Amino acid sequence: MNEDADQLARAARQLIDTDDLLGGGFLPAEHHPLPEVQTSAPAAGAEAPAEMTPAQKAAMLKALDEEEVRTCTLCGLHRTRTHTVFGEGDPSAALVFVGEGPGADEDATGRPFVGRAGELLTKMIEAMGLTRQDVFICNMVKCRPPGNRTPAPDEIAACWSYLIRQLQIIRPKVLVTLGNPSTQGLLNTRVGITRLRGQWQKLPELAPGLGGIDVMPTFHPSYVLRQYTPDVRGKVWSDLQAVMKHLGLAPAARKGATGR
Ligand code: URA
Ligand code: SF4
Repeated sequence: MNEDADQLARAARQLIDTDDLLGGGFLPAEHHPLPEVQTSAPAAGAEAPAEMTPAQKAAMLKALDEEEVRTCTLCGLHRTRTHTVFGEGDPSAALVFVGEGPGADEDATGRPFVGRAGELLTKMIEAMGLTRQDVFICNMVKCRPPGNRTPAPDEIAACWSYLIRQLQIIRPKVLVTLGNPSTQGLLNTRVGITRLRGQWQKLPELAPGLGGIDVMPTFHPSYVLRQYTPDVRGKVWSDLQAVMKHLGLAPAARKGATGR
């Protein structure tokens, strides 16, 4: 085999492996209908909710967490959780990261992305010149799937309304979806992260106020940790740089850079 063909074969294999690793088959074969948003909150009425003040947003998120999520028993994941993991950050954030679901460290603390993957996500955010307090970080499901398995479609469906309502309250400019479950779930597609990452997408009209929000899918930090190659890291960094440009953020000062 000549070098080109060899390289092509390797690239193809990597593409397939990547989708497999990221759980490309987790959605049913048909285009799935979006779960109904069940809520009594005014934010999910027929009209796009009016923009709230930062204080109102903070109060709405707090109420959603304390009055609904913490006591939720809508799916089986409640039986094995230690803490629910609502998400955290700026209630008025322009940028929201959506992961998959809590792992062991998150379940133990009640905070999103605080384990190894969380350390990497924190570094990614800081490389953008931001802090965790500047953005909002949450997950598709608020309770840990046992053994860190991928959340099942019925669990994602059960938890869906909470995520939708979080997004309606925050109403960010940009969503970064981390890995397949959040990318495929929020974009309502079966196309895998390998093909979608790095390309701007628009959020479908999942609920009033959410249609058209810009979405940048990128690899999940857990995947980056497993595939810690210059290629994978470079792709994630290029995705984040596109987000920074879109948000009008100055390029982060790198080592040796001459400043802003
Ligand atoms: N992985 C996720 O998807 N979410 C977390 O909160 C932690 C790890
Ligand atoms: Fe409720 Fe979501 Fe936890 Fe399931 S994962 S029990 S829907 S909060």
